[in-house]
Amino acid sequence: MRRAIYPGSFDPVTNGHLDIIERGCKLFDEIIVSILVNPEKKPFFTIEERQDMLDEILKGISQGNCEVRVDSFRGLLVNYAVAQQANAIVRGIRAISDYEYELQMALMNRRLEPTIETVFMMPAETYSYVSSRLVKEVFELGGALEGLVPPLIERRMKEKLKRA
Ligand code: PNS
Repeated sequence: MRRAIYPGSFDPVTNGHLDIIERGCKLFDEIIVSILVNPEKKPFFTIEERQDMLDEILKGISQGNCEVRVDSFRGLLVNYAVAQQANAIVRGIRAISDYEYELQMALMNRRLEPTIETVFMMPAETYSYVSSRLVKEVFELGGALEGLVPPLIERRMKEKLKRA
């Protein structure tokens, strides 16, 4: 049983994240999409909202024999990964600029917990510039999000803005 953790903030999930999940499914029997609970950050969506949206979106994605579930975690990622009996951590690398930070995290995680491997995956080129941070910026400035995030995310972002 090959189980991987795909950790992140997912605030919000982008089409780039979904692309990595689909690719990860070719390598793993199970992927746990794990949202970091970070009390220091002021997120756009709450953990519950992010979890709910991910659950809904991932239901609609075909993953073959791979099981994908959504969870959240706090504290050290490697401790969480061990508790989930995972073998690997999946991270997406879009460009060289991601590499330095990702390498540092992967090596620190390896030092903390040598039994867990980090697997880097590249999303489709179409998503190489897509990040949650830019999605939020474009949205807040009134730009179109079509093709960058699933339609459900854009809808929920608009609903949230109306309620604010
Ligand atoms: O999508 P993000 O925000 O870039 O994801 C970052 C994440 C969640 C992978 C990273 O912040 C993390 O693993 N945090 C948990 C705390 C931890 O284990 N820190 C030590 C990592 S070297």
